[in-house]
Amino acid sequence: MGPNTNLAEFIESCRDQHLAELCEFLRIPSVSAKSEHKPDIERAARWAAGKLTSAGFKTVHIIPTNLHPLVYAESLEAPGKPTILFYGHYDVQPAEPLDLWTSPAFEPTVRDGNIFGRGTADDKGQVHIHIKALESLHKVNGQFPINIKVLIEGEEEVGSVSLWDHVQKNKEKLKADALIVSDTSMLAKGVPSITYGLRGLNYYQIELAGPARDLHSGVYGGAVPNPLTILAELFAKLHDKNFRAVIPGFYDDVAKVPASERKALNALPWKKKDFEKAVGAPGYVGETGFTTVERLWIRPTLELNGIWGGYSGEGAKTVIPSKACAKLSTRLVPDQDPAKIAKLVERHIRKLLPKAVTAKFEVLSTGKPWVAPYSHPIFQKAIQALESGFGKKAVFIREGGSIPFVTQMHDTFKVPCVLLGFGLPDENAHAPDEHILLDVTEEALGIMAGLFWDLGEMRK
Ligand code: BES
Ligand code: MN
Ligand code: MN
Repeated sequence: MGPNTNLAEFIESCRDQHLAELCEFLRIPSVSAKSEHKPDIERAARWAAGKLTSAGFKTVHIIPTNLHPLVYAESLEAPGKPTILFYGHYDVQPAEPLDLWTSPAFEPTVRDGNIFGRGTADDKGQVHIHIKALESLHKVNGQFPINIKVLIEGEEEVGSVSLWDHVQKNKEKLKADALIVSDTSMLAKGVPSITYGLRGLNYYQIELAGPARDLHSGVYGGAVPNPLTILAELFAKLHDKNFRAVIPGFYDDVAKVPASERKALNALPWKKKDFEKAVGAPGYVGETGFTTVERLWIRPTLELNGIWGGYSGEGAKTVIPSKACAKLSTRLVPDQDPAKIAKLVERHIRKLLPKAVTAKFEVLSTGKPWVAPYSHPIFQKAIQALESGFGKKAVFIREGGSIPFVTQMHDTFKVPCVLLGFGLPDENAHAPDEHILLDVTEEALGIMAGLFWDLGEMRK
């Protein structure tokens, strides 16, 4: 088993080069949420496409969409071998609040064996592992050991809206025997993990409008509606004392998780202490009747993600804002239907609002939850590859985050989706000081190269 030993040596000899290239990628502020970063998004797409070409792909395309371009590469020169689709994203979350970064978000910096920068864990660092694993295989063996399609998108962090359309129009092109994704986390350091379930995500924005213009709160206050107060009252009503979302029908379609699965999830080597250290809150809350792991992985939630209006600058401004806005989202679990949940949320919010304000309710993106069996032989190969690298048997976990493409692929092609995450829960994804451990990254590169090699020996 395993490719020739030259491969490991080759990878080792490229360590500095790999790090230098990853830094190039990380320096591009490809923030998909903000239109001012459109040129950076395009630069990141071109960067990834260029690296796929140097990795040995003869077919590499940058595919425009309604929003951000997709990068697609394929090599189908291994007749009789399986075809693997690798998916990742080159876009990143906004870096704000900037002043909380120890070193600037887009100036990657190595400290204590970690590399810090936006996108290190989510997902440029992980995408880079795969590009370099494939490149190493190609350089050492002169060819790829399998048929491989690579899809790297630029809209993951804003809901992968353009991707669905692309998948529907390119079913033949994207067809593969399995999907491999590295955009998740390990349960803990040194615990190789394969994720078999993700929550879905619906994201909403609401704007309440009251007075036609901002008002002097002394001259008018007491006799006019304050949209910001009304918004705060609204959110106060959206959870009950057991931390359940108070949206009629919200839990109706939640599939019951078998007792045996709950038992297995709760028995994982997951440490509450590590979780609390990563969070750093003075206390913890969650839905009554469920363990923390269950709250995170198998229960739906409703969260307020942002709220604004009125004055929040220095000092005081006595104003009654004309408008108040909020961003909110629901995490969904099997078998909740995103469209149905969006309707329930909007209907209930409208019902709670007084006539003194008008409301604009927008659904910015929707995404289905995903959970799938892991009995396909490819999972055995993945377990072996992870074990050979980390020296430990992989665990099967569910996670609370969302990756819209996984559901799209699974629903469209019914293929096994292997989520091999190399991030760690405390690596500050979406937060200041995002980082990854360089040793884990290096290990992961070898593991992925080994896995791609082994898959070449698997029968279709
Ligand atoms: N990589 C994450 C998803 C993730 C993180 C899954 C950790 C499992 C463990 C991804 O980039 C992400 O952040 N997705 C968004 C969803 C998207 C629709 C905006 C999320 O989960 O908030
Ligand atoms: Mn990601
Ligand atoms: Mn993310």
